[in-house]
Amino acid sequence: MNKIVELIKKLPKAELHLHIEGALEPELMFRLAKENQIIIPYKNVNEVESAYDFQNLQSFLDIYYRGAEVLIKKQDFFDLTWSYMLRCKENNIVHAEIFFDPQTHTNRKIDFNSVIDGIYEALEKAKKELKISSRIIMCFLRHLDEESAFETLNQALTHKDKVIGVGLDSSEVGNLPIKFKRVYEKAIKEGFITVAHAGEEGPPEYIWQALNFLKVKRIDHGVRCLEDKKLTEKLRDEQIPLTVCPLSNIKLNIFEKLSNHNLKKMLDMGLRVTINSDDPAYFGGYLNTNLIESQIALDLTKEDIKKLVVNSFKSSFLNEDEKKRWINEINILN
Ligand code: ADE
Ligand code: ZN
Repeated sequence: MNKIVELIKKLPKAELHLHIEGALEPELMFRLAKENQIIIPYKNVNEVESAYDFQNLQSFLDIYYRGAEVLIKKQDFFDLTWSYMLRCKENNIVHAEIFFDPQTHTNRKIDFNSVIDGIYEALEKAKKELKISSRIIMCFLRHLDEESAFETLNQALTHKDKVIGVGLDSSEVGNLPIKFKRVYEKAIKEGFITVAHAGEEGPPEYIWQALNFLKVKRIDHGVRCLEDKKLTEKLRDEQIPLTVCPLSNIKLNIFEKLSNHNLKKMLDMGLRVTINSDDPAYFGGYLNTNLIESQIALDLTKEDIKKLVVNSFKSSFLNEDEKKRWINEINILN
């Protein structure tokens, strides 16, 4: 095997941008559809594959929300999360920070507790049996209103032992971060860490708003930051992490091809770039595939790869001792 691919595979890794609903593989979708008697618009896996041909973020989201409708019972959320944790093991991901979208489920009258408990129990099992640590971040759907986000935040207040932070996802353009300023203020008061998707399809202004109004600790995606010199300098000087998702960006036509992706440029400029898989069941690959394909397309060096992986641990919500321990392990690998 190519030496650098070997290194990618053996490095302990952290994943910081992963929507658990986006880890729903077609096989599990079919099984749950049958079990729960939910109609899905595909007859077989081939039909699924041809449907996963997206023009932009919205065309993906329409299919993704439809897929999530098969998730009904607590056990379904457990099975989904456990299947992702097994993928983590395969990819040598030792720490995962996982998004979930409560409103995708509560709007279908699924109980918030079933969702969070199913996810949490699978993560606890993974901690014990697979030695993988994790955190849960709850995302608000930005195409919905402030009132719905407040309602969702209130539901999370009795789950602070499980949910460490809040995020913002779904249709970006037209749904400015400032819409959720008051929700985020309350979340921060309640002790949640904050992150937000920004600068995926939206312009740099959305990143500025996420920083200034939502007080985020990380920007999810953020690839459009380079269009604004002042913003780029701020991100670099303050080492604000960007959770970049290369295969997602290609599938959603943010960049035409991987060799055009700006992640190497951002890395070379000293930005704190991390690599993640976003919605791996929809975008054609888990974390190792994202790293390997990016390495090939952008001719990333061994040092670039190690930097990206170290950046993920530095940007994680692990404690400082745990971060140090993993970074030391990475540094001795070649
Ligand atoms: N929800 C799941 N994946 C997403 C993405 N890439 N952008 C915004 N919302 C999402
Ligand atoms: Zn995302």
